[in-house]
Amino acid sequence: MSRIVPADSKHIALAAKSIAAGDLVAFPTETVYGLGGDAENDQAVAKIYAAKGRPSFNPLIVHVASLDAAAAYAALSPAAMILAQRFWPGPLTLVLPRLASCRLSLLVSAGMDSVALRIPAHPVAQALLQESGRPLAGPSANPSGRISPTSAAHVAEGLGDKVAMILDGGPCRIGLESTVVSLLEEVPQILRPGGISLEEIAAALGRPVTMAAQVGDVAEGLHGPGRLLSHYAPACAVRLNATEVAPGEALLAFGPHAPHAAVSRNLSPTGDLTEAAANLFAMLRDLDRPGIGGIAVMPIPETGLGIAINDRLRRAAAPR
Ligand code: TXA
Ligand code: MG
Repeated sequence: MSRIVPADSKHIALAAKSIAAGDLVAFPTETVYGLGGDAENDQAVAKIYAAKGRPSFNPLIVHVASLDAAAAYAALSPAAMILAQRFWPGPLTLVLPRLASCRLSLLVSAGMDSVALRIPAHPVAQALLQESGRPLAGPSANPSGRISPTSAAHVAEGLGDKVAMILDGGPCRIGLESTVVSLLEEVPQILRPGGISLEEIAAALGRPVTMAAQVGDVAEGLHGPGRLLSHYAPACAVRLNATEVAPGEALLAFGPHAPHAAVSRNLSPTGDLTEAAANLFAMLRDLDRPGIGGIAVMPIPETGLGIAINDRLRRAAAPR
């Protein structure tokens, strides 16, 4: 059964209900189709990673309806305001510092202190943002390792059974992902070339912009900055596959049979990997506090979302 529906007001209203219920909806943007879920809902964001089958938690773009909405989540520097006013709504994504009060899931940021925001221009994307009243986490709506979808049929081929519905807004006008610009450093940096060129961005800012060295994810048809990204790492030591807890250690448990520990969090008492992914970064941050000698992490099965969870835990445990 195909879940492709026309992007009329009736179906946009239904899609908004699915988003509010924590389900996923594929929606058109002017660049490519996005796999949307409520960006403030950890479980919904975890479902996105599960649906794409990514072997790691790359941070996701969050689509917002307005500049005011963006300002509720991220610090907008003067440079950010210039680019936002010039290119939003449109194919530009800005990587910005998260505000302390930011309510977005930490999973969209892969645990980091930054967040990628974009206001899409496509009327269906705009309508879905308005109608749902939710910020939409939205990576390209393709399985990991496949090219980005520019039609509803492409989405149905790759992810048809993983979404509540696919809003059909026709072919995407640009057909190429948004340009991702990081404003985290002194000099703005293009992390991913896309619909807007480096020259246009430098001209708008009136100063030089650099291009990050590209480590292309050729299979995805884009040059993702994935491996260039710094990753969230706890300050204290992380010990994997722990079956008991040493004195001074905090426990990051998984499943019903957790050993006792004075300080512990359970990623999922029932052993549910989507729930565990949803809790991962928030619980790691919570345990990473002064006075904790280390974090002992119970074994996580290396299947489904467990692969991405273990990838991040191995990075967190790697010697630094
Ligand atoms: O055109 C687009 O941007 C599409 C449509 C659906 O909006 N979305 C898209 O999302 O291509 P995705 O998740 O496939 O690509 C997001 C890119 C990745 O290269 C990711 O590494 C980067 O943005 N990114 C996201 N958050 C980041 C962050 N906090 N720091 C650095 N890079 C980030
Ligand atoms: Mg993509």
